[in-house]
Amino acid sequence: MSVLIKNGLVVTSSSSYTADVYVEEGKIKAIGTQLDYSAKTIVDAKGKYVLPGAIDPHTHLAMPFMGTFAQDDYETGTIAAACGGVTCVVDFDLQQKGESLFQAIERKKSWAKDKVAIDYSLHPAIMDPRPEVIDEVKDAILEYGTPSFKIFMVYDFRVDDATMIRLLKETKKYGGLVQVHAENVHMINHLNEEFQKAGTLSPYYHAKSRPNIAEEEAVSRAAKMVEMTGSRIYIVHLSSKEGLFRVKEARDRGINVFAETCPQYLLLDEERYKESGFNGAKYVMSPPLRTKESNQALWDGINQGDIQVLATDHCPFDFNGKKDMNGTDDYKKIPNGAPGIETLLMLMHSEGVVKGRISLEKMVDVLSTATAKMFGLKDKGEICVGKDADIVIFDPKQKFTITQEKLHMNVDYTPYEGMEVTGMPVEVYSRGKKVSQWKTDHVEFVGQKGYGRFIKRQPLTFK
Ligand code: URP
Ligand code: ZN
Ligand code: ZN
Repeated sequence: MSVLIKNGLVVTSSSSYTADVYVEEGKIKAIGTQLDYSAKTIVDAKGKYVLPGAIDPHTHLAMPFMGTFAQDDYETGTIAAACGGVTCVVDFDLQQKGESLFQAIERKKSWAKDKVAIDYSLHPAIMDPRPEVIDEVKDAILEYGTPSFKIFMVYDFRVDDATMIRLLKETKKYGGLVQVHAENVHMINHLNEEFQKAGTLSPYYHAKSRPNIAEEEAVSRAAKMVEMTGSRIYIVHLSSKEGLFRVKEARDRGINVFAETCPQYLLLDEERYKESGFNGAKYVMSPPLRTKESNQALWDGINQGDIQVLATDHCPFDFNGKKDMNGTDDYKKIPNGAPGIETLLMLMHSEGVVKGRISLEKMVDVLSTATAKMFGLKDKGEICVGKDADIVIFDPKQKFTITQEKLHMNVDYTPYEGMEVTGMPVEVYSRGKKVSQWKTDHVEFVGQKGYGRFIKRQPLTFK
């Protein structure tokens, strides 16, 4: 399988230049001008961008949650990813009670087998922190290829602060990273009780029950534990100006706090919860959507380097049948989460680059290069000789109106319905094999389920 991509604008995290890219046996073999290789496939990329495939390090494929399952499994979720220009996902793997981390990883690998269409890895989420599980962190980092670990400060399966400290220490020893969902559960429970008494239980109160200060407090507490242990932490789905302020405050003092945000926290705001009828439930996710002020602060956080990674938190539930299953009279019973894996790149280009909020190079950094470095994906994340040929040919002029009908995610809505974007992935390659292709007015999957591989990641290094 050889591919010669001619005359595209190759975009890296630091510069862009016109070149040819030659791919053989799944790897980028050469980059230069007027490359003279006889390839099986020749792609004319004049006027197009040649980008590294986006990496989504925050997905919940087939995850059991709030009495149901996130609807995209490894087949539908990774097909949608490929159609959106995402060529690798790092999916959360929620450890069940009594399971070892090894068992949790093998279980989720068995769900992916024969289904996954692009490469993937796993972050074990520690939910049963028995002493032997904390001891197993070393093997997970050094042997299993899963050096990042998710913990929750909220939900029934949250861990306590003592566990967080033990995990921070253990991960520091071997090159691991703790990722945390940071919200203060007691503040949220208190507000839930108040809204229950007042009978204010529509989707809008989901947002009001999880105020910015709940995120701010949890980020600040997590940062203090990093300071105490000398370790590092990664805040997932950072949503608020106040949370970002605490990240920045720690970073300015040399404490290793990293952060991720998601398109929904950059582009949508809490007005969405006021949509007519029960429509606000489409945006019930945790943390909730914030205000335009937070949207802007997060763009600034990306540009200033306090937020290093963009991810989706892809966790889809049908509006009809799942969001309304138990929650029409009580926001607390609406499954938390929203779809996003397929719209990540198109939104970041159109709303970020085209509107001048971020540069093209910054987009590549937060979607690919920094993500690969953060999570030890050594062969991914860059258009560079020797890396996997995970490549997006991106037409910056191609228009598309986002509509659920033309997307591949296994869910009955998109939060971005009707939004027109400028710029679309028109050909996507995963290790040199074409997996999706623009056709007339939408992207089609042309890959193969089962093609994706589990990627054993490297222990992590931090400054
Ligand atoms: O609402 C969300 N984010 N659902 C998925 C689980 C999580 O907290 O990331
Ligand atoms: Zn979360
Ligand atoms: Zn999540």
